[in-house]
Formats: sequence, C-alpha cells, structure tokens
Amino acid sequence: MDKYKISGGRRLEGCVRIQTAKNSVLPILAAAVLTDGAVTVLNVPDITDVRNMVKILCRLGCRAAYRGDDIVIDSSCADNCEIPRALAHELRSSVFLLGSVISRFHRARIAYPGGCDIGLRPVDLHLTGLKRLGVEITESNGYITCSCKKLVGNEIMLDCPSVGATENLMLAAVRAEGETVIKNAAREPEIEDLQNFLNSMGAKVCGAGSGTVRIEGVSRLGGSVYQPIADRIEAGTFLIAAAMCGGNIELEGINAENLSSLLHKLRENGCKLRIKNDKIYFRSDKRPVSVKSIETQPYPGFPTDLQAQMTALCCVSSGNSIVTENLFETRFKYVPELRRMGADITVVDRCAFVRGVEKLRGAVTVANDLRGGAALVIAALAAEGESEVLGISHIDRGYSRFEYKLASLGAAIERAGT
Ligand code: UD1
Repeated sequence: MDKYKISGGRRLEGCVRIQTAKNSVLPILAAAVLTDGAVTVLNVPDITDVRNMVKILCRLGCRAAYRGDDIVIDSSCADNCEIPRALAHELRSSVFLLGSVISRFHRARIAYPGGCDIGLRPVDLHLTGLKRLGVEITESNGYITCSCKKLVGNEIMLDCPSVGATENLMLAAVRAEGETVIKNAAREPEIEDLQNFLNSMGAKVCGAGSGTVRIEGVSRLGGSVYQPIADRIEAGTFLIAAAMCGGNIELEGINAENLSSLLHKLRENGCKLRIKNDKIYFRSDKRPVSVKSIETQPYPGFPTDLQAQMTALCCVSSGNSIVTENLFETRFKYVPELRRMGADITVVDRCAFVRGVEKLRGAVTVANDLRGGAALVIAALAAEGESEVLGISHIDRGYSRFEYKLASLGAAIERAGT
C-alpha cells in the first residue's frame, strides 16, 4: 500500500512526453481477440488497468505479454469464453471483451465489470445493442451470459452516446454478417482510434468520430502493428498541474485538437498556450482567474475524466466557479479530501460550488478513484507545506511513472510505503 509524499509550492518547468492513451489501449487489446493474426500494440503505458487486461486475455487462452514497451498478443490459441468475477472486478474495460468474445466464440460468460466507483455505470446499452445483433442474453448471479448462432448486422440507436457501448458494439459487429449502423454513437477520439486499429486488421469501419458509425462485416481479420493515440487525460492533468503551481512546461506527442475544451478553459484562466505540431507549450506566471462554469459533457465537451483536476484548479483561482458533473453520479468523492487542504467547496447534487482561496495547505488525503486521486496529487503540489496522498493504487491504474514525470518537472514528490 504505497503513498505519495509531496512537498508543495514548487513551480513546474520542463518537458514531458505524453503516454499512449489508456482508453485507446484497453479496447484495442480487447479487439485482438478477434483475429488469429499476431497483434503488436506499441508503446503501451505500464499501468495496472493494462496489466489486468493482459491477465484477462491470458485467461481466455491468448498469449499476451509486454515485450519492452510494446504488448504482443497471439489469440490463435484462445479457447475460453468465460471471464470470472475476480478478474472482471479489477477493471471496467473487461466489459469490452463481451463484444469480441461473442464474435469469436458465439458464446460468452462474463461477470459484471468493476472499475472506478464513480456512479452506477450500467451496461444496459451494451446489452440492448448486442441483442439487436442477434445475441441472446441472460443475467444471473452477477454474470452476463450471451450466445448466438451467428451475429447479424443491424441498425442500433444508443439512448445516450456511451463510449464503452459504442466500442463494444463495433467489436461485436466487425465480423458479423452484413452492415451494422450505430447511431448516436460516442465521438471520443479513442473511438476513431479503435476504428483505425480495426481497419489496420482488415475491418471495414467508417464514421467513427461522428455520431454514426458504419461497420460492414468481414469474415476474417489479420494481424497488425499499431501505435494508438496519446493520452489526452494525462496531458490535461499535467497542464492543470502547471496552471495550479505556476510553470512553463512543454508536452510532447499530443494532438491538441483532442484537448480543445480544456485549452479553451485554461485560456480563460489566464494561462498562455502555444501549439506547434504535436507539442503544447504552456506558461502561467500569475494566480489563475476563476472560470465561472464548467460542465462535463460527452466529447467534444469538457471531459468528465478531467473534472476533478479542474475543480482542484478552481480551488486556488481568484473568484468563484460552478462545476457540474453530468455523466457520473458520484464523481465528487475527492471533495472532502480537498477540504482537508483548506478548499472551500460545497456540493449540491451534481454541482460543486467552489470559492477560490489564496493557498491550499498540505494535509494527509486518501485517493478514492483514479482521476480524483490525480486531483489530490496536483492539489498537494500547489499547496503550502507537506502532504501525503494515500490509496495511490487507484492512480497506478491510469498514470504510468506519474511521480517520475512530475519530479522531472521539478515537483518534490516521492513514493513511499505506508
Ligand atoms: C469511458 C471511459 C471513462 C470515461 C467515460 C466518459 C474507457 C475505458 N473509459 O467509460 O474513462 O470517464 O467513458 O467519457 O474508455 N451509460 C448507461 N448505460 C450503459 C452505458 C453507459 O446509462 O450501458 C451511461 C453512464 O452511466 C454514463 C454515460 O452513459 O452516465 C457515459 O458512460 P460511458 O460513455 O459508457 O462511459 P464508459 O465507457 O464506462
């Protein structure tokens, strides 16, 4: 049970290379089950969610392992269509395997997925969509059991643009008979990335990134060597950290277009940003000015995965802000922890009312989920004095070498045993 020890108040200066996107890598690893060809995913971050996904692939009978920074998967020997509770509970993305496992075996049995405790996180849209493709589904004892004679393409209308449901249905449809059209699809960049990966294996998918994804089923997929996109949430976390601490940093390897909603808010905060090719140059020398209103929305709106970090920034900005969380019901669990550091926040239903204070002060806090945990770390970097952040296994799920990268920017942060 590790923790971070942080000595706050240092300005951040320097350059960081952004990791490959967790939320691209996970569905791409799930997609590797669809082919007998060899798949290599390049520059995969060493994070717990990915390690758990590799464990699940091995459980399905695939050969999957890190080779240096890459992951190599050979699914030709996959022979198991069941994912037990202990593994499925480790990560939410285990649910993506439903689409690829049912496509491969025409059968699947998977325990309800786990992941961050940030709300109800139902999977009804995944299941309704699969039924439209001809899958029979029963749910009992915490397991979802699926079977079909064959998958047949169809039109699917999602009630809301769910990222996971869109991806899962793409995976189920790529080898189905005929055409599938997913309407009201999520438009996150990671969905376009999944499309590009599937097409690199010989699939016929188009429209990802828009509200309508079309999949023309193919009978066979080949292997691929693929570099997924960079992690916009990791990049956003570093930018917000520099806005809170003051700093002059450069992010490398990131498509700024995918972060437009955050960059827009940071400019409102008074931060200076310059974009050149795959780099973002960021500078902030003064206390940030508060952004009046932030509302999380599906992409291209403000990402829920940066809500906690942005609320931390509001805490030290001059003025008041209202942060509204529209996607997940219980995504303010980090707020009592920020209050220990002197933050002035009141939560009513889905809104956090934040009154900016001049300085946060160091404290011992506990991370309850991945992004809330990251928010506590960057708050501690900006605070006066010493802090400890406990429960950092949550942060290890999504940020690779977090403390090393922050230390390379001049932060005083170290990992220690509790
Ligand atoms: C993905 C991301 C997660 C991010 C989220 C929203 C991955 C691995 N995770 O999660 O980091 O926070 O998108 O950008 O990519 N919903 C239903 N029924 C369903 C599915 C979803 O009602 O069957 C609702 C959810 O409760 C939520 C909303 O749809 O309110 C969005 O959820 P969704 O886009 O599915 O999030 P995830 O795919 O779980």
